[in-house]
Amino acid sequence: MLNKLSIIMSRNLYNTRIPLINKLWKPADMLESEELAKEIQYCVMKMVKKREDKVVNGEADSFGNDFLGLLVNAYHDSDKNNKLSMEDLVDECKTFYFAGQDTVNALLAWIVFLLAIHGDWQEKARREVIEIFGNQIPNSEEMSKLKIMTMIIYETLRLYGPSNGMMRRTESDVQLGKLILPANLDLLVIHAAPHHDPQLWGDDVHLFKPERFAEGIAKATNYNAGVFCPFGLGPRNCVGMNFATTETKIVLSMILQRYNISLSPTYVHSPIPYITVQPQHGIQVILESLYNDA
Ligand code: HEM
Repeated sequence: MLNKLSIIMSRNLYNTRIPLINKLWKPADMLESEELAKEIQYCVMKMVKKREDKVVNGEADSFGNDFLGLLVNAYHDSDKNNKLSMEDLVDECKTFYFAGQDTVNALLAWIVFLLAIHGDWQEKARREVIEIFGNQIPNSEEMSKLKIMTMIIYETLRLYGPSNGMMRRTESDVQLGKLILPANLDLLVIHAAPHHDPQLWGDDVHLFKPERFAEGIAKATNYNAGVFCPFGLGPRNCVGMNFATTETKIVLSMILQRYNISLSPTYVHSPIPYITVQPQHGIQVILESLYNDA
């Protein structure tokens, strides 16, 4: 449902709407998105009700201390100033589900694709994973030792960063390089602009070269932080950044421990910027077990 909603959103992103006319006549996309929003709201409310029922029936003594539990607690807060409305609760769930799931899915898909066509980097990453974790489940203490994998993740974020761009609004007149931007201007900063600029990264900008990040982001960007911003910039940058990279490292390590990845001949390359940058036709790969008995 959220995926459908994001596709509708992305194809209507630049459409101008006239509020009064939209009250009298709604285009098909708007009707479908309203229907989807209702279904999503219903799903979240069902999950909330389940938590509430458990407490009422005595099966649990609290709503839980995970993210949903914290939101349900805030929804039941007796202090009016802290109380969360049902609408806010649903919105928070939508944000975290969308921001947390679609992005990491896309990142993993693009890494698998790039490793499938760059067997040398796949082998380097696998060697590193086996050296650090052997065939054990990856643990958080040793995660920081995954240098090659970190380089691969950064280079994938540069080439196919899941987030298409970041929204900003000017509060007052500002000068941006040679441009003077008036107040109250909505800006969509597309990540591909700095990430794919040959002046910043060199003539090989479109090639997959994780070695760019061998000495960290600062060195790769020539100490120009704004040049590489897959998780956004400033005080409202991505709150899930560390979680996302850790999650990606765990999943990737577990795949590399078990399988050799190669690209299927049926794969058609077509990245498409919905809300996240997605492989339009999916990514078809062939996974071969590294163990004969598996
Ligand atoms: C590869 C994975 C991810 C990428 C590329 C990504 C990227 C981004 C970007 C570009 C922004 C906007 C930042 C800005 O405007 O400066 C953002 C915001 C956000 N992200 Fe992520 N994200 C990822 C994973 C996650 C995960 C796993 C979570 C949650 C578990 C998450 C939660 C959020 C939230 C809540 C915001 C809004 C922050 C705010 O407005 O203060 N993201 N993310």
